[in-house]
Amino acid sequence: MNINTHYQEVNESYLFSTIAKKVNEYAAANPDKRIIRLGIGDVTLPLCPAVISTLHQAVDEMGAKETFHGYGPEQGYDFLKTAIQGYYQQKNVQLALDEIFISDGAKSDVGNILDLFDANNTVLVPDPVYPVYVDTNIMAGRKVTFMNATQENGFLPMPDASVHADIIYLCSPNNPTGAVYNRAQLQQWVDYANAEHAVILFDAAYECFISDPNLPKSIYEIEGAKTCAIEFCSFSKTAGFTGTRCGYTIVPEELLSGTVSLNKMWLRRQTTKFNGVSYIIQKGAAAVFTPDGQKQIKEAIAYYMDNAKTIANGMEKLGVWYTGGQNSPYIWLRCPENMESWAFFDKLLHEANVVGTPGAGFGENGKNFFRLTAFGDKEATKEAVERILSVFEK
Ligand code: MLT
Repeated sequence: MNINTHYQEVNESYLFSTIAKKVNEYAAANPDKRIIRLGIGDVTLPLCPAVISTLHQAVDEMGAKETFHGYGPEQGYDFLKTAIQGYYQQKNVQLALDEIFISDGAKSDVGNILDLFDANNTVLVPDPVYPVYVDTNIMAGRKVTFMNATQENGFLPMPDASVHADIIYLCSPNNPTGAVYNRAQLQQWVDYANAEHAVILFDAAYECFISDPNLPKSIYEIEGAKTCAIEFCSFSKTAGFTGTRCGYTIVPEELLSGTVSLNKMWLRRQTTKFNGVSYIIQKGAAAVFTPDGQKQIKEAIAYYMDNAKTIANGMEKLGVWYTGGQNSPYIWLRCPENMESWAFFDKLLHEANVVGTPGAGFGENGKNFFRLTAFGDKEATKEAVERILSVFEK
């Protein structure tokens, strides 16, 4: 057999696996140290009561012949799709149920969607960015063109009419920088994509952290987006489903390549390669959209945003440049003393026993930056900031 040699072109291990390995080795060698993890964006609050009680009911349903569920629709149950449709209506976005596909999370779909596209497509990706966009394209043998996201452009690169693209990745609020595109900026992207006959793969996994009512939470709030954009979203950060796994992808019916419908292609792909998210989990996800669910997840989001403030205040005390943390759970800071991000990672781990994510893991432009997440425990986050201050204020 011959292997897909493009796997040799990506780093041997995925960014967050590399970090976990380093941290586990350090923890094993230093069992007396209490490590505070503000690295991977993993939530720490439990699932909210509205979700938990619905999960219990769904488990009981699975135990009775009359209410048992076997295979479900590969693209998700209507009860969850209807709840998502209602959520988009609140943003003045109208979706047909057939445009909504339930999945086990945004990460899988962001990778899987590439099944729909030709290997020779030109891919445009911001640098720095969530590494899945780059790695999945390299694994598929595509060449990636980077667009610079820098301190100067607020980490929000804009389209360049002289550069051709077929597939464009946008993530807003951005992982890792926390930067958020405004309406006018997204309109420019949508106009560019329509002119190029390109597709925007819009990652909205952090939309619920936007508190500024003027900022768009969905690409479909922008005129013309339905002919050029696919949107990915997830319950992971919104409602604490990182361990439970559920997300959704919107593929509009108007999105065509010539006369071919991408919505139909995605349906064909999912019905062939995916058997749907479990009934129990979809029931739990639907509970997120009930009035109780919405109230409870907003409390969790407020808790995390308080952590973001704690971290931001610490960075101000330290006098380092930072961004994010306002409409986003990530703080993106310039490493003190002009350190490189992996060196800063090691210093923080060894001297403060705090874990963060080196900016270099997200791209070349991140090499002097560092990401801290607000998803930690409140007391632990406060302590992490104190420890960072005590190391660097010396
Ligand atoms: C991150 O830390 O960037 C995220 O947790 C990764 C993910 O959502 O897969």
